Amino acid sequence: MTSLQVTDLTVRHPGPRVSPAAVDGVSLEIPSGTTLGLVGESGSGKSSLARAVVGLVPVHGGRILVDGREVRTRTVRDRRRLGRLVQIVLQDPDTALDPRMTVRQALAEAATVFRRLDRATRAERVTELLGLVGLDPGLAGRLPRQLSGGQRQRVALARALAVEPGLLIADEITSALDVSVQASVLNTIRELQRRLGLTVLFIGHNLPAVCHVSDAVAVMRHGRIVETAPTDTVLRAPEHPYTRTLLTCVPSLRVPPPRRSSP
Ligand SMILES: Nc1ncnc2c1ncn2[C@@H]1O[C@H](COP(=O)(O)OP(=O)(O)OP(=O)(O)O)[C@@H](O)[C@H]1O
Ligand SMILES: [Mg+2]
Repeated sequence: MTSLQVTDLTVRHPGPRVSPAAVDGVSLEIPSGTTLGLVGESGSGKSSLARAVVGLVPVHGGRILVDGREVRTRTVRDRRRLGRLVQIVLQDPDTALDPRMTVRQALAEAATVFRRLDRATRAERVTELLGLVGLDPGLAGRLPRQLSGGQRQRVALARALAVEPGLLIADEITSALDVSVQASVLNTIRELQRRLGLTVLFIGHNLPAVCHVSDAVAVMRHGRIVETAPTDTVLRAPEHPYTRTLLTCVPSLRVPPPRRSSP
């Protein structure tokens, strides 16, 4: 179980000109075992925030606490542990997957990074991981290019889960997928969260879709969070006018009930 606490976070990207902070004094909290949805238009700073949490971009101000301990002041050993504890999955699964590695190789490699596993246990773990993300174990011998976009995204998800993270950051992981596939990946996220007790930061554009997987939702605009509320409240009585716009300008997503095998 892992919690995330971000306080007054500021992120500025280096550039030739002084531009407004990508993340401008953001505070948010994700209690352990819950999902926070982060929604906002393109350029609002969602990915900058996510990248700061995993240490991919420098932080200019504020604090990031994972399990109550500050990310920046950790020792090398702490940072290695943090690298396992917090995993990020991005919109384009191809950046996470080596095109020359089969699904089995990719998952086995990730599963053994932090833990030595004998051959039999490794094979079991690969099957287990594929099951977790709703993929047929028969796909284990395939290369990324022999999979659909949705399947590749599921493999990327399985790879992130292979190191047994406590916090999963999903940055627009369904945005490049067909609408029907999106819905089933959303269901997978929800199931994973329940089964593994994962803490999730789920980032997206589509507010109804984000609401489907989230316990609470934070709405971001121009580097700031304009509204944070439990999902029910956001859907029934959004406070901020911008949140209302987000609810009305997207087609509602029809999410089918969870299935066993998924595209
Ligand atoms: N590496 C970078 N260098 C310079 N500026 C950047 C960099 N990454 C992002 N920015 C700027 O920071 C701001 C926030 O971008 P960010 O990618 O965090 O937004 P986002 O909400 O994730 O958008 P999207 O929905 O399109 O993914 C934007 O103005 C963007 O142009
Ligand atoms: Mg982004």
